[in-house]
Amino acid sequence: MPVGLLRTPNKDYRWKVPCCRSLPEEIEILLMVRLIAAADHGDTEACGAGSRLRQNGQKGRDRRKPRCSAKPQPFAEKGMVYIKRFRRSILLAGKLKIIHAPTRGINTNKQLLLRGACMQLKPFLLDAWLDQYEHDIEFNLAASTGPTWTVNDILALADEETRHRFLNHNLVYSRPAGADSLREAIAQMQRVPVEAVQIVTGASEALVALMWLAAEPGANVILPLPGFTTFSALPESLGLETRFYRVRRENGFRIDPDEIKRLADSKTKLILVNSPHNPTGTTIGDGEMEALHNFTAERGIQLVSDEVYHPIYHGRQTKSAARLPHATVIADLSKAFSIAGVRTGWMIEHDARRRQQYWTARAYFSISNTTTGEILSEIAIRKRDVVLGRTQEASTRNLQLLERFMADHGDVLGWIRPQGGMTAFPWLVSGENDRPFCQAATGRGILLAPGDCFDTPSHFRLGFAAAGDKFPRALDRFGAFLKSWSAKMVPA
Ligand SMILES: Cc1ncc(COP(=O)(O)O)c(C=O)c1O
Repeated sequence: MPVGLLRTPNKDYRWKVPCCRSLPEEIEILLMVRLIAAADHGDTEACGAGSRLRQNGQKGRDRRKPRCSAKPQPFAEKGMVYIKRFRRSILLAGKLKIIHAPTRGINTNKQLLLRGACMQLKPFLLDAWLDQYEHDIEFNLAASTGPTWTVNDILALADEETRHRFLNHNLVYSRPAGADSLREAIAQMQRVPVEAVQIVTGASEALVALMWLAAEPGANVILPLPGFTTFSALPESLGLETRFYRVRRENGFRIDPDEIKRLADSKTKLILVNSPHNPTGTTIGDGEMEALHNFTAERGIQLVSDEVYHPIYHGRQTKSAARLPHATVIADLSKAFSIAGVRTGWMIEHDARRRQQYWTARAYFSISNTTTGEILSEIAIRKRDVVLGRTQEASTRNLQLLERFMADHGDVLGWIRPQGGMTAFPWLVSGENDRPFCQAATGRGILLAPGDCFDTPSHFRLGFAAAGDKFPRALDRFGAFLKSWSAKMVPA
């Protein structure tokens, strides 16, 4: 159970918060946390008057009825503690900004320490959906990966010595930064010094580390919408403000760097771009990426480039941001390489201070990757022409089929052809919410991913590479389903 701690010079106050849903209808303590954070950051916006916790060591608080100042007023006294009553429903509706785990920003003088109230992760709709259906479905058109590989397939790519190393290595911890030879293989591929490479357990762990380190009171992060849910779920759970730039179909899914820049201010800690983008397959041009890099470098904002679908392209090829000195790259073997089971991800970071922080974070989170996964990963990376070639070949071929399919079904489906990656983000031209549509498709053996998993309910995600050679048959079945679906939609 999360425990809150408020330490004043005279006294410690503690409270327990089981979780938002089981909180009493009237809550006081969380806003108090927020207001302290606001006070410390000179943020007058959230200020309001309320009952006051006495700081003279007396237990309890002033019982006067809480009142709200009509006009926000600045906090006069740093560290002054205010409480305002508010209803649990406001909290549940996400209308209140809660700083869960205030850090050094709150207490530079060590007199006042606050520790988080309740850290909640929103439901992971995509993974819940995939976990429910993808293990038994006939045609998986929801996955964002490519054709699958067995351990045998990967070992067959290695020389005799490496196979021997794999079969005889000790099942021990690996190094927190990652096995030396794996880091070397990645450094070679990414054309960076080996010290710049930090291995992590999937790009997912990189995201946890980055958001964790960005979580300061009052800070915000800038993210794509739609986007991979983890991008927003993590910072929201840490009390960071999330700001979104839109990847709109009206704009051909183009990511607009000016929109991103307009969202940034002095409290922006991190800007995340994902190219090729999940779920739309849109990409960011090299020039635009460089402009964003210069913008963030000037302002001391961390630019994170999620490149898990690089280098699978269906139009202009773009370069990895690893070449940019102030960018942080996150990548993995799950998507373009399609060996998600090894759970290997990595970060490219040119800043030594940040690298030290990642090393520490991952030593706490997972200590190291698995030794088996690291050796298989190294083989795949050294043989990347073959492994990436297979994903590129399957996705190019299947995308051509999908283009024809979409042209044939333009009366029911709209889409924008992806420029990279292995997913498209079509929509029903009727404008309906796509979840019932995706639900009905499962009954015909077709798995799609509902757009609400990406906060965009009028779309669905269609992965075109994972089905591999089965894709033509999958499209036949999908076509038959579309016919029956649109027949149902026509009024009798
Ligand atoms: C854009 C993006 N980033 C990161 C990840 C995390 O993948 P993993 O943890 O398998 O590397 C995913 C997974 O779907 C993703 O789509």
